[in-house]
Amino acid sequence: METKDVIFGRRSIRRYTDQPISDADLEDIIQAGLYAPSNINFQPWYFVVVRSEEKKKEMLEFMATVSKLFHPVLESRFAKNPEAIEETETFFKGLGGAQVYILVFLLKPDYPDLSSVTQSTAAAIENMLLMAKDKGIGSCWLTAAVRVGKDEEIRQHFAPDKGPFLAMVTLGYPAEEKTAPPRRGGRFEVI
Ligand SMILES: Cc1cc2nc3c(=O)[nH]c(=O)nc-3n(C[C@H](O)[C@H](O)[C@H](O)COP(=O)(O)O)c2cc1C
Repeated sequence: METKDVIFGRRSIRRYTDQPISDADLEDIIQAGLYAPSNINFQPWYFVVVRSEEKKKEMLEFMATVSKLFHPVLESRFAKNPEAIEETETFFKGLGGAQVYILVFLLKPDYPDLSSVTQSTAAAIENMLLMAKDKGIGSCWLTAAVRVGKDEEIRQHFAPDKGPFLAMVTLGYPAEEKTAPPRRGGRFEVI
């Protein structure tokens, strides 16, 4: 795909088919993350790629609690859009049937500049979403578990010797079509 079609066409996908993701595609997606820019080339990320049914189930157990704890956040954000609440909660409970979850941690617990290593890791995440899109694979970036304070438990469970859990990415072939939310004004100026 053209780069601009990948960027403008990527959407958060919250329902997936049961089509598996090949080893080669998954490897390309992970490599895209690893090739992100990073502050003073720290490459400060660590990915736990959850693919086995056993480990996916363990993550879904965390997500059942996340879904409950996140309810008030959704209520306040989507007060006028109950469908969005329903969609998100359904997604949390089964992660949309995603084939793979990528849990994203900082490699180390202590960096001198948390902002820069977090920005670097966000670049790695976006690279993975865009590589997935290029292959026709849908994705969703999630931080709800962090928002409700389950991050440390997830770190202890999946990567006890690594730094903080920042986010997860779900991957799978899309079972839904999404359109881009309208862009809001006042987000840039040219000076
Ligand atoms: C840092 C970050 C955290 C997000 N966390 C969640 C999440 O916890 N649950 C979820 O369903 N979507 C999450 N999303 C996806 C956003 O809801 C989505 O990007 C936004 O609604 C715009 O839609 P689009 O990705 O299709 O353009 C997150 C996105 C980002 C960048």
